[in-house]
Amino acid sequence: MTDRYAVFGNPIGHSRSPRIHTAFAEQTGEAISYSAIEAPVTDFAVAWRAFAEAGGRGANVTVPFKQAAFALAQVLSPRAQLAGAVNTLSLGNDGLLHGDTTDGVGLVRDLQAHAAPLAGARVLLLGAGGASRGVIEPLLEAGIASLTVANRTVSRAEELASRFAARGEVSGCGFEDVAGPFDLVINATSASLVGDLPPLPGEIFAAQGLAYDMMYAAEPTVFLRWAAEQGARSVDGLGMLIEQAAESFWLWRQVRPDTAPLRELLRREL
Ligand code: ATR
Repeated sequence: MTDRYAVFGNPIGHSRSPRIHTAFAEQTGEAISYSAIEAPVTDFAVAWRAFAEAGGRGANVTVPFKQAAFALAQVLSPRAQLAGAVNTLSLGNDGLLHGDTTDGVGLVRDLQAHAAPLAGARVLLLGAGGASRGVIEPLLEAGIASLTVANRTVSRAEELASRFAARGEVSGCGFEDVAGPFDLVINATSASLVGDLPPLPGEIFAAQGLAYDMMYAAEPTVFLRWAAEQGARSVDGLGMLIEQAAESFWLWRQVRPDTAPLRELLRREL
């Protein structure tokens, strides 16, 4: 029987996850189906149980259900515990519901695919919400030298940074107090969604610096346009989306798809 998977979100209409996972399945010969499910905002658990009873083996979870999925999972991976969020659910052979998060590894793999400086890099992370929280540990794991978390609400940046202070040189501040140079600047705020730009001082990029926006769109985001004006190389988050999906696919099927063809395909379709 074909194993069923799905992405749960609300809204979910524009999700590219079905496209990506269907392509991975074709490429690897795995017999799976993958659909998009718009769960009621207050009833994620009910929607998941209905899916599991109908043969669902696993799911991706996106806005606004990552915390509900965290609460529902019976076994949490260490990285999901650190992130406080789950984007991948799997029914294990032990009959338990396992929760993991692949966003952080997705970001690091995409950065590596773009030959981003990581080992020894001075990194600035913009934003202190869920998107930031899930990527700090994987960045530290990748061997960065220091991490500055900058946020509009300064106390959130300080609080988030303090949680990781024991793991390395991690500090928090407001946008105006950011002091470069940085080898890598990652935008994990939702400012790009509304066409806003965090009010950063100019000249914060090191030579060969790279700007990364977790958002992606047909046109470069305001942040990436600003970074290009500062002389930085800029990369959007389309590759992160594909890499986090590949990691989920691996968790479910123990098969690693080739992400390169998807990068080209989705870029053309933007
Ligand atoms: P997510 O889970 O996507 O990170 P979130 O927890 O709501 O969502 O966090 C959104 C992040 O974007 C926060 O860091 C937020 O800053 P505040 O903590 O000050 O709210 C940031 N953000 C949202 N809109 C922004 C804007 N227009 N300019 C700068 N930062 C913004």
